[in-house]
Amino acid sequence: MTASPISDRLSDVEGQVEDGRSKIDWAFEHMPIVQSLRADFEADQPFDGYTIGMALHVEAKTAALVEALAAGGAEIAITGCNPLSTHDDVSAALDDHDAITSYAEHGVDEAGYYDAIEAVIAQEPDVTVDDGGDLVFRIHQEHPDLIDSIIGGSEETTTGVHRLRSMDADGALEYPVFAVNDTPMKRLFDNVHGTGEASLSSIAMTTNLSWAGKTVVVAGYGQCGRGVAKKAAGQNASVVVTEIDPRQALEAHMEGYEVLPMAEASAKGDVFITVTGNRDVITPDHVEQMQDGAILANAGHFDIEIDLEGLSEVAVGETEVRDGIREYTLEDGRRINVLAEGRLVNLASPVSLGHPVEVMDQSFGIQAVSVRELVTNGEAYGAGVHEVPDELDREVAEIKLRAEGIEIDELTDIQREYLASWEHGT
Ligand code: NAI
Repeated sequence: MTASPISDRLSDVEGQVEDGRSKIDWAFEHMPIVQSLRADFEADQPFDGYTIGMALHVEAKTAALVEALAAGGAEIAITGCNPLSTHDDVSAALDDHDAITSYAEHGVDEAGYYDAIEAVIAQEPDVTVDDGGDLVFRIHQEHPDLIDSIIGGSEETTTGVHRLRSMDADGALEYPVFAVNDTPMKRLFDNVHGTGEASLSSIAMTTNLSWAGKTVVVAGYGQCGRGVAKKAAGQNASVVVTEIDPRQALEAHMEGYEVLPMAEASAKGDVFITVTGNRDVITPDHVEQMQDGAILANAGHFDIEIDLEGLSEVAVGETEVRDGIREYTLEDGRRINVLAEGRLVNLASPVSLGHPVEVMDQSFGIQAVSVRELVTNGEAYGAGVHEVPDELDREVAEIKLRAEGIEIDELTDIQREYLASWEHGT
């Protein structure tokens, strides 16, 4: 595969490839699942002759996954899934690999973002790996001629899976895609702990402000929201939750958090973190209630959870007060601070590193076995969204337990028989 013009430019920056290389090596060293799968792939070459097209956050942990697939014989074309989350040094280091072409560049505009998606599609992938669904959607919209030759895909995040399920329900999804997000090994760790830890640390590093004593409003108490709320409470913040689902709201209440509509929470919060996968969760009407100095951050996939256009309309001034913090001044002088342009704060803030390495080891372990399942067994899956087979999720969990030196019990024959029977009662 030829080098990409984007990364030709990136590679020209002195030390870029080396910097990216050391970031990738550090991550890989702490990813026992990806290490173990990579060793298997090197031996078995399951991806020999296949091209994998990817649109993921291009940073060090992702690169460890990409290199593991390349070690298994794949040709890979990759770009970002968010204009602000790419680490250029990692992108350049990936592109330096003979079997990998990276088109990802930090800070591209919308046209540049979609040009890079198109460049990946132009490599005619056999398998797609997405985070948010842009690659699958673009292929269906602009390149339906390629669909017949695509074995399948895998999708990383909640919003991408929602989008694919909507396509599926409309009969518009024409190849199989694994919902990696929905596996226990992904959502119970990446969404909960990863988003919780990474969002809070990115906000703290971007603002240099303390959590203790603050009121933190968490919008959305799903997988990610419960992690954000738990970690904020653990840092001595008072947590307020907003929800639209009565069961999630009750769960938050029983966990001890105050639950309020956003119209009321907006007057109380010092820091607001949206993580709903929905749009217009914070609007100018809410901002109207907010205290001077309120901080708004989004950890949901797209930059539509905070209505920034609406905020710009009611603001009389806007200025970048610190790297990654945009201050909007309201008519009465109150200032509202928005982090990372309302894009997912744990990846798009200038200091962000994304989720902790151990968490992404699990998520990318599932991605790796999903891609392996597609190339070895793809004909078993029809068009549509598929659960990742449970035995693959268990395989990844077992590798992790071995790496952690944790042993667990095994079912006895009598226990197995009991669990499978219906005759035993009181
Ligand atoms: P989820 O479906 O488990 O939770 C979303 C929650 O938001 C639900 O409980 C829903 O009832 C609630 N909600 C929806 N509209 C709302 C509104 N207007 N106000 C208040 N609550 C509302 O989804 P999950 O897994 O928590 O993901 C949420 C978002 O975070 C998605 O966009 C997902 O793609 C993204 N995500 C981000 C990550 C990151 O690195 N920042 C990592 C994983 C997921």
